[in-house]
Amino acid sequence: MLRRPRRNRKSQVIRQMVEETRLSVKDFIFPMFLIDGINQKVEVSSMPGIFRYSLDLMLKEIEECMNLGIMAFDIFPAYPESKKDKYASESYNPDTFYLKAIHKIKTSFPEAVVMTDVAMDPYSSDGHDGLVQDGKILNDETLEILGKMSLAQAQAGADILGPSDMMDGRVGCIRKILDDNGFTDVSIMSYTAKYASAFYGPFRDALDSAPKLGDKKTYQMDPANYYEALIEAGLDTEEGADFLMVKPALAYLDVIRLLKDNSNLPIAAYNVSGEYAMIKASAQRGWLDGERAMMESLLSIKRAGANIILSYFAKEFAHLMRK
Ligand code: PBG
Repeated sequence: MLRRPRRNRKSQVIRQMVEETRLSVKDFIFPMFLIDGINQKVEVSSMPGIFRYSLDLMLKEIEECMNLGIMAFDIFPAYPESKKDKYASESYNPDTFYLKAIHKIKTSFPEAVVMTDVAMDPYSSDGHDGLVQDGKILNDETLEILGKMSLAQAQAGADILGPSDMMDGRVGCIRKILDDNGFTDVSIMSYTAKYASAFYGPFRDALDSAPKLGDKKTYQMDPANYYEALIEAGLDTEEGADFLMVKPALAYLDVIRLLKDNSNLPIAAYNVSGEYAMIKASAQRGWLDGERAMMESLLSIKRAGANIILSYFAKEFAHLMRK
């Protein structure tokens, strides 16, 4: 045998020399859940190790993460039912706690990158990402609300806006509002190929944001579709997105690769709540090695072509890197 691939696997040092994919803490954005109040830290029951924090404790958590090398955070606020309405108006109320929190995080840690989510669901009494009328999700009327929300988030100091709503035309609309108001430096990470997925379940527990009626299939993509992601990618690119995202990650590695091979923009992937919960739940039962399953999953996302990974594992990963 002239060729023996095992020669390149014979020792740890050689294996590391030929390693094609290497994860770094710099690849990560850490999604975090924010609640109103002080001294609050409440675990999300379906996401062991992940908490909803009040601002004071979130600042401490961010500082710890930064000491481990994680520099980017995606902040998701949880609102009580009493603050929600049909128009998600709390999302752009200048006095609301999440906008003040973003401002505080940015002034406390100017070098941190703060990302925000642009979608109506956490603030909507209908629990949908768009405005609901007679059981339908209105597209163009939703854009107006997303525009106000985006401007408020930019004014609060967000570095990157993440439109996760899947309305048509939202990236262009948000880009225009930002530019018209002098926020030309605020970036857009578009949820380009966001699928109607069962894997968002634990996230909706964390924010109490599940739709009250129906599902999200008229706006989020059909899991059966692959080429359609290229249509979305083309539109987001034309409309001014700075990053394209695929979500979820693990069941859509092929879509990550597709966008990587067909776009010159950086590609992000969202390793979502359900993907986190699956590994945690089986590790808790001793059914698999949680640490190794985490590493292998994160590696597969990067190998598939993601430059950036949004993951609830970010801090745990960073701890492991320290060891
Ligand atoms: C809101 C939003 C969702 C997630 C991120 N932004 C939920 C949804 O679309 O229902 C899911 C994130 C996760 O599951 O970790 N539009």
